[in-house]
Amino acid sequence: MKFEEPLIFERSQPGRRGFSLHADDWDVPRLDPADIWDDALVRSEKAELPEVSEPEVVRHYTRMSQWNYSIDTGFYPLGSCTMKYNPKINEGVARLPGFAGLHPYMPDTWCQGALELLYNLQGILTEVSGLPHCSLQPAAGAQGELAGLMCIRAFHESRGDTARKKIIVPESAHGTNPASAAFNGFDVIEVKCAEDGRLLPEAVAEVMDETVAGLMITNPSTMGLFETHIGDICQIVHEGGGKVYMDGANMNAILGKTRPGDFGVDVMHYNVHKTFSTPHGGGGPGAGPICVSDDLEPFLPVPRVAKNDDPDAAENERFYLSWEHPQSVGKLKAYWGNFLVYVRGYTYLSEYGHKLEEVTERAVLNANYLRVKLNDVLDVGFEGTCMHEVVFNDNTLQERGVETLDVAKRLIDYGFHPPTVYFPLNIHGALMVEPTETESRATLDAFATTVRTILDEAAENPELLKHAPHNAFRTRLDETRAARQPVLTYKQLVAAREQNDSEAGA
Ligand SMILES: Cc1ncc(COP(=O)(O)O)c(C=O)c1O
Repeated sequence: MKFEEPLIFERSQPGRRGFSLHADDWDVPRLDPADIWDDALVRSEKAELPEVSEPEVVRHYTRMSQWNYSIDTGFYPLGSCTMKYNPKINEGVARLPGFAGLHPYMPDTWCQGALELLYNLQGILTEVSGLPHCSLQPAAGAQGELAGLMCIRAFHESRGDTARKKIIVPESAHGTNPASAAFNGFDVIEVKCAEDGRLLPEAVAEVMDETVAGLMITNPSTMGLFETHIGDICQIVHEGGGKVYMDGANMNAILGKTRPGDFGVDVMHYNVHKTFSTPHGGGGPGAGPICVSDDLEPFLPVPRVAKNDDPDAAENERFYLSWEHPQSVGKLKAYWGNFLVYVRGYTYLSEYGHKLEEVTERAVLNANYLRVKLNDVLDVGFEGTCMHEVVFNDNTLQERGVETLDVAKRLIDYGFHPPTVYFPLNIHGALMVEPTETESRATLDAFATTVRTILDEAAENPELLKHAPHNAFRTRLDETRAARQPVLTYKQLVAAREQNDSEAGA
């Protein structure tokens, strides 16, 4: 049996230390906390911290890091999440002292380089989106949605058009879309997609009226499909007096190929962490900058990064934060937005900006490669070419007596992170794979071969899958309990163990 390493609190021995610095050997004054802080702030009892040696601390944290799966350790095909490899040069640039050491209260005149980077980034984002104005304030995709919808509402209110209280959201939208609309005080009108998974202009025309503020559409959608009727749909919304919001989180499927502004979109957000390769997880740290049309420009959040075009301007006054926008919806994030995420995104764009089309082609090719490689054993949700991600249904799994979750869990035994499961909701037992542009053909082949192996196993011995994963640090979890009663501290762990023991004994 494998030796199970004790957790750090179990290693604790009174008097053990992780350092051997003797204050007496150095001229270090011994300070009594009571001499420094107010009595009320000084704890009366010793903290219950583990007393451990340095190797024990190092082993504890290194081992915990190895329990995690990450894009740096393997293929991470989560659909809708774009877990692509983040080049390490991004980290190197973000750590340059001139960026990492900036204080947010420094005057503009002291941070010209940082402001120039943000200004240039705004320029790239407007160019790629085809929408001429940009705000870097939002700190996540969902906050970009909030900001964009606030701009739409402010636009209507500025014209006295206050009856527009609804946002149309197709069923193919990402979950944050209806949530952002509702959070903004709009009523959500959900519209169905056609048989082929796409939104039809007729469906929008049917609900479009003078109470509708706009349409919110994820394009390409969370079904991995490009909305081929988007031009007509935008026209219908505009003719009805509304604005079109595009969730641009899936831009890596269209970068450099087409521009939302050109097909009629009024406002969109990017997910910098998805599209331009910065760390993504747990809702951030991210950035969700928005780009808007001329109509919506006055309402953009502040501050914006601006350039002083006066040829006589001093060297240290060329770039500045611009606050003078009286119709702005206001400030959404502390200081400048998530600055170091933008440094990483800008680094990525500096490296790949001249070949964004190639990024797109590889993202789409990789998804279609897996679609074709697996289509004889897994049915797709919607026939035909997909964009950045491919969604399978569970038809062939049911025949084998297993479920989507069983396949996902068995993939862990083979060293792969599971794809997204049971989303989107309108595809039964959805298994959604987004390979991203950063994976090699060899990795995709290995993944496809493994899925086939797992399906063979399912046909022979479905029970093997039902209890997977077998080789992971934790075997099959009660997912509801794990989500509702997470065990996050050592004390909770001890209590949970005691409860398990008493349940087992009962
Ligand atoms: C299509 C889509 N829209 C919106 C979001 C929300 O973005 P964030 O997690 O940055 O709030 C995501 C997240 O990955 C997404 O995939």
